[in-house]
Amino acid sequence: MLPWVDVYKHTMARVSIKSAIISLGIFSMMVTVYQWGSCDIGHRDDNFYRENVGFQPRVAQSFKENSNKNTLKYKEIECVINGEDSQKCRREAKEVYMPFSFIQKYFEVYGSIESYDGYERFEFQHSYSKVHPIPEEYSPGGIFMSFEFYNVEERNRVKCLTGQYGVPMSTQWTSSGHYYPIQIAQFGLSHYSKHLAGPKPKVQVLEDGESGDTSEWLLPDRRSQLAVKTDVDFTDNSIIEFDTSENLKNPGITISMDEKKLTTLSLDIKFISNGSLTVLLRTGDGNLFRIHYVLGDTLIYLQKRDLYYGLGSKARGKWLHITRMVMVDFQKGLALSMSKSKVAKFKRNARIAAICLRGHGLVDNVTLSSAAHLEHFFDAANYLVNQQDDQGGWPIMVQRKLVPAVLELDAGWYSAMGQGQSISLLVRAYIVSKDQKYLDAAERALDVFEIKSGDGGVLTKFAGVYDWYEEYPTTPSSYVLNGFIYSLLGLYDLKEVASGKGAAHATRLFDVGMKTLKNMLLMFDSGSGTFYDLRHLTLGGAPNRARWDYHTVHINQLNLLSLIDNDPLFTTTAKRWTDYMKGKLSPHN
Ligand SMILES: *[C@@H]1O[C@H](CO)[C@@H](O)[C@H](O)[C@H]1NC(C)=O
Ligand SMILES: *[C@@H]1O[C@H](CO)[C@@H](O)[C@H](O)[C@H]1NC(C)=O
Repeated sequence: MLPWVDVYKHTMARVSIKSAIISLGIFSMMVTVYQWGSCDIGHRDDNFYRENVGFQPRVAQSFKENSNKNTLKYKEIECVINGEDSQKCRREAKEVYMPFSFIQKYFEVYGSIESYDGYERFEFQHSYSKVHPIPEEYSPGGIFMSFEFYNVEERNRVKCLTGQYGVPMSTQWTSSGHYYPIQIAQFGLSHYSKHLAGPKPKVQVLEDGESGDTSEWLLPDRRSQLAVKTDVDFTDNSIIEFDTSENLKNPGITISMDEKKLTTLSLDIKFISNGSLTVLLRTGDGNLFRIHYVLGDTLIYLQKRDLYYGLGSKARGKWLHITRMVMVDFQKGLALSMSKSKVAKFKRNARIAAICLRGHGLVDNVTLSSAAHLEHFFDAANYLVNQQDDQGGWPIMVQRKLVPAVLELDAGWYSAMGQGQSISLLVRAYIVSKDQKYLDAAERALDVFEIKSGDGGVLTKFAGVYDWYEEYPTTPSSYVLNGFIYSLLGLYDLKEVASGKGAAHATRLFDVGMKTLKNMLLMFDSGSGTFYDLRHLTLGGAPNRARWDYHTVHINQLNLLSLIDNDPLFTTTAKRWTDYMKGKLSPHN
């Protein structure tokens, strides 16, 4: 049996959802709602929701059968929908109740039985998404939008954080994986924002060579050695030299612990021979699991309870600064062989039991911490500096089919959103480090904004008048709104921080883009939601409505823009778009 919705009072065929809910709320308390425990709340993309919106949707609780059911008096009545369909409904005096499962599908709305404060209620939502509160200010060195809620590395479409660069490898659009600049920039920006928003991480130094005491380390055999050294590369800094077998079957030189909370490992290490670093985990069942960081190009490889990450074949003989979220590495490895729920359980119960070094090398600053956001942030920033191409771009090396056979991009395309978010990241790296290389890279990234999309760049013009920077530089153009606004935020960040020619260039691109945005923004307003892009205008055909999570991205972006530009267009539009999420419509004639 299902909850029903009152529609009788309305002479129109369409249900006014608001009044429907009131009846439904009362009714659901009286009626048996047994089957609702398994009811899904619509076509929600839980993953996107959690990752991009930043909080977990509440899931319907279990509930008891209501004992009042026998007091209900209703008759079955057929409901005819638009003269085409028919539903079994119920009538009680002047009220008619329709099954909510029908209402949900018909109107694309959401509802679930929730149980808290000692009783159950039916909670109805017009949308499944939520707008973040408007921050008080925006600055190029501050939190980026609401990215402190993002957990980029945990997303399913992140294969792993690579051993070589410490940045995500994406499986979006290709299962073999590619370095997707947007994902890398978002990874960096999320850790930067967490660094600013979150509590100060707890850090435990396991070894920095300064105490002179190495008794915590265990040597596997008589041949193995460990000693405190003063390295020629570093003045006033003691480091540890280790020398033992390279063989992965050998336990290595080991420092042991039982650590559940501080699971981010960070260290400086130089391998002189073909050594390796292993983190030993104790899983919930008492068994051991080993994560090996080895010299080689293996991306990620699982063999029973041994997991391998390659640090790159050129990593030998160089100082490496390695920062690993050990539990993320563990999770990504397990995900190669088991289901998501099993992985979560393994991850929950795992603890770090030991850290082992093999081969001959030098090590320093071995720490375990609750988080190392700035280090992940700089991993992303350094990747972008090192991988930027001659045109100042970060090409995306995978084919993208926006509309198969109609709007397609061959591998090697640039994205204005990728450029823009990378600029936002690099500007912040410059602000924190004062290292000019980050600002230089950000300024070089502007050049791609000057190249037309037809010529391999990102620039297009709407109706021959308005310059637009394309997230997907297709021909014909697609005009994806959120990607365009992200590109403008990058330009804003850079114009605020750069000086001289770089500032002038960023300012010009930003001003032109903002003029376009102000003139075109309302083209994306459907009267009940927003359009994701303008393909209906360029291809002719059905508009591509933004699903609620993208709609809220649009609103979050407008709220942010209202902090840097006082044109009332942004505040009034954001307000109307927020109202759409509660079912309000724009006026009609
Ligand atoms: C270095 O050791 C790893 C295992 O730790 C092995 O896979 C790789 O082939 C070795 N490389 C060389 C050049 O011997
Ligand atoms: C270890 O950290 C200290 C302090 O940040 C730094 O000066 C030193 O260079 C680091 N050691 C190595 C080998 O990078």
